[in-house]
Amino acid sequence: MNASVELYSESLEKTLELGESLGALLRLGDVVLLSGDLGAGKTHFTKGVVKGMGIETEATSPTFNILVQYENQMGSLMLNHFDLYRLESEEELDDIDYFGHLEQEAVQIVEWGDKFTGALPEDYLSISFKVVDAEERALLVEAHGARSNILLEAWLGESA
Ligand SMILES: Nc1ncnc2c1ncn2[C@@H]1O[C@H](COP(=O)(O)OP(=O)(O)OP(=O)(O)O)[C@@H](O)[C@H]1O
Ligand SMILES: [Mg+2]
Repeated sequence: MNASVELYSESLEKTLELGESLGALLRLGDVVLLSGDLGAGKTHFTKGVVKGMGIETEATSPTFNILVQYENQMGSLMLNHFDLYRLESEEELDDIDYFGHLEQEAVQIVEWGDKFTGALPEDYLSISFKVVDAEERALLVEAHGARSNILLEAWLGESA
């Protein structure tokens, strides 16, 4: 059974904390899809994840920031952070070697990943962000697959 839960954030700080607590639980190979309203907090949430993963180095920021890669201090790839907002067709996914990067042994975070449903991996956690008012955000979190269900359960245990 795929679990789902709605979380609330009443401030930017809370969103950063939610990202940080998830980041501390993520393992290489985990995939997190971020979708929802423009300016809802997907990128700030990801900043929290980066902190929670203990990452201090941004490695490369190629192709107009469609993909930013993060390494640990040993120079090993830890996280691919995609933002597919500006992409218009599935062919453009090939231009950035989306699938090649998804196969890398790293945490994968994909903003606007829901734009290309044919590209979804089998097991992923999805978080849909909704702007409630200036400060408040609703986050609909859904686990798709065995690993994501475990991840969600652990995360709820941490952030409850
Ligand atoms: N509770 C909150 N959580 C996250 N951001 C908040 C919150 N309250 C206010 N904000 C503001 O909302 C904005 C969120 O911007 P952010 O770039 O993270 O959104 P985004 O979802 O990545 O947008 P885009 O769809 O353009 O990629 C920031 O300006 C932030 O200060
Ligand atoms: Mg963003």
